[in-house]
Amino acid sequence: MSDPNEPGSLPDDFAWGVATSAYQIEGAVTEDGRTPSIWDTFSHTPGAVDNGDHGDVACDHYHRWPEDIALMKELGITDYRFSIAWPRVVPGGDGPANPAGLDFYERLTDGLLDAGITPHATLYHWDLPQVLQDRGGWPARDTAEHFAAYASVVAGALGDRITRWCTLNEPLCSAWIGHLEGRMAPGLTDIRAAVPASYHLLLGHGLAAQAVRAASPGARVGIVNNLSTVEPAGGSDADVEAARRMDGHTNRWWLDPVHGRGFPADMLEVYGVGLPERPGDAATIAQPLDWLGLNYYFPMTVTADPSGPPPFVRQVRRPGVPRTGMDWEIDARGLESLLVRLTDEYGARELYVTENGSAYPDVVGADGQVHDPERTAYLDQHLAACARAVRRGAPLAGYFAWSLLDNFEWAYGYDKRFGLVHVDYGTQKRTVKGSGRHYADVIRRHGHASRRVV
Ligand code: FCB
Repeated sequence: MSDPNEPGSLPDDFAWGVATSAYQIEGAVTEDGRTPSIWDTFSHTPGAVDNGDHGDVACDHYHRWPEDIALMKELGITDYRFSIAWPRVVPGGDGPANPAGLDFYERLTDGLLDAGITPHATLYHWDLPQVLQDRGGWPARDTAEHFAAYASVVAGALGDRITRWCTLNEPLCSAWIGHLEGRMAPGLTDIRAAVPASYHLLLGHGLAAQAVRAASPGARVGIVNNLSTVEPAGGSDADVEAARRMDGHTNRWWLDPVHGRGFPADMLEVYGVGLPERPGDAATIAQPLDWLGLNYYFPMTVTADPSGPPPFVRQVRRPGVPRTGMDWEIDARGLESLLVRLTDEYGARELYVTENGSAYPDVVGADGQVHDPERTAYLDQHLAACARAVRRGAPLAGYFAWSLLDNFEWAYGYDKRFGLVHVDYGTQKRTVKGSGRHYADVIRRHGHASRRVV
């Protein structure tokens, strides 16, 4: 019934997308006036990233974007979600725009439109200009204001061609993983930095939403969160409380304020750090959303861990549940249930699955092909979950597979391959994987490759 291969199981004008982000694919880190971001600094810090990998060259997309657009066209992709690198466009963090940096995104956008692919631009996918980190980074309020100024520059230049704008990708990772767990840039482990960082990220979201709409009145603005379902490991009060805290940390902290509900009071108590609030901020953070993006990878099962950092919870392994090459559990029911939750509890009017995918250690076989049946199965299971959520009333408008290409998987470097297209990093040769061909078939069966017009 929910077979995603069945035309009709998803809306007619469904966006069949793929997603990437700037630092993970572009390379060319010193070209045309780009300055370092916190990820350049972090990835060049000994021990921070597996194998000492960094994004200096990555997929060389900065030079190979025409080939990558051609690949998308070949697969019948209708929509492309990419991010814009702040340090290319405003290399000083604040201050003047860099025309050469903007030019790159103009060429890319024009190339997409020529190929009949709708561009969806993300303004911040974690690559804060290092110069702003040196001035305090996200824990400092100024950063939110600089973000809005940068957003205004980008929307001013591209708003005549791009209508789909995302302010932030996964602020949870920037705040919690970057400032509390230290596994991502800027690599801090301090709740007193993490809470203000989270606050200023969401304030920056609101300010940037206003700036984009002012610069481009037809803009449709949203935010992308990575959310998880959270279940207690057992029936004890301690486990149930742990699940409530993890839901607050992972889901409610990011959803409630942008929906006008303020920051969850129970979590403020757990963190024990005050918010750097000023009058008017709550309304700025709660700008109306034209759409909401969900990145979904895995569900969580948790137990209390008083020795850990806030929220004093750790994940437990469910025996027998299949896992991807990231060691992440595979359970598509979480995607269905989150889409329904966003609809029922948060009143979402337009939803996108802005990322979903799986990593496996793919190799190009002797036949020149990449056989990745596990990724194909993961894709089908999650598209079926999308179709079930739609049947339960979720206003789901599109799905973006993570990722078009194998790329720099942050602290895991290049070993974790999420692409529908394999990249040989020695030669930069792209090879469409079996899962990529399968996705193209699904799209074709839905009749979009030919029907959809931009
Ligand atoms: C998400 C990120 C994306 C990618 C996937 C695997 O958290 O947004 O850049 O790394 O995970």
